[in-house]
Amino acid sequence: MKRIKAIYPGSFDPPTNGHLDLIERGSKIFDELVVAILRNPEKDPLFSVADRRKMLEEMTASFDNVSVDTFDGLTVDYALRVEAQAILRGIRAISDYEYELQMALMNRKLQPALETVFMMPAEKYSYLSSRLVREVAQLGGTIECLVPELVEQKVREKMDIAHKFANGEPLPGRAPSEGKSKSRKKKA
Ligand code: PNS
Repeated sequence: MKRIKAIYPGSFDPPTNGHLDLIERGSKIFDELVVAILRNPEKDPLFSVADRRKMLEEMTASFDNVSVDTFDGLTVDYALRVEAQAILRGIRAISDYEYELQMALMNRKLQPALETVFMMPAEKYSYLSSRLVREVAQLGGTIECLVPELVEQKVREKMDIAHKFANGEPLPGRAPSEGKSKSRKKKA
């Protein structure tokens, strides 16, 4: 019988409960699912690709048919390289539809043999995005229940470091003078 392998490409900065919900759904309909993190040097990410990979690996450890990988270049080229037949994407609300349709049709133009499969995450995650998680955390709001506990912990560590940096406090593995406001004080 033909086995269907799919990739689930994205930025995952950070991975959320919405991503995890989709991974779980995808793992049930595909024989194999590869969560593929885009290595995009143009963006200024909160987490390095290595950090995101580690978080996703921990989050998906209980799924036997799910693996995590990274890629650059075209998604369709990566899909062909790993011999996947489908691209999994999530649609949360109608606002996602236009962008996702455009991307799916462009991917089909580039590689007609690949199918894009859309799945909807649980309603409770329909407003959830990595961008909002980053924004809420950066402004001091709680991200509990929006991301897995291990991600929440990592985001909190990031925010603590950013806070210390902004206040010129010593950072782990760095000299105290490397803090932002200390160097500003020197100039003043
Ligand atoms: O999590 P995101 O940011 O919504 O994921 C977007 C992603 C990574 C799927 C998209 O930007 C992508 O496929 N990038 C790779 C480059 C590519 O193939 N571009 C053409 C897409 S039509």
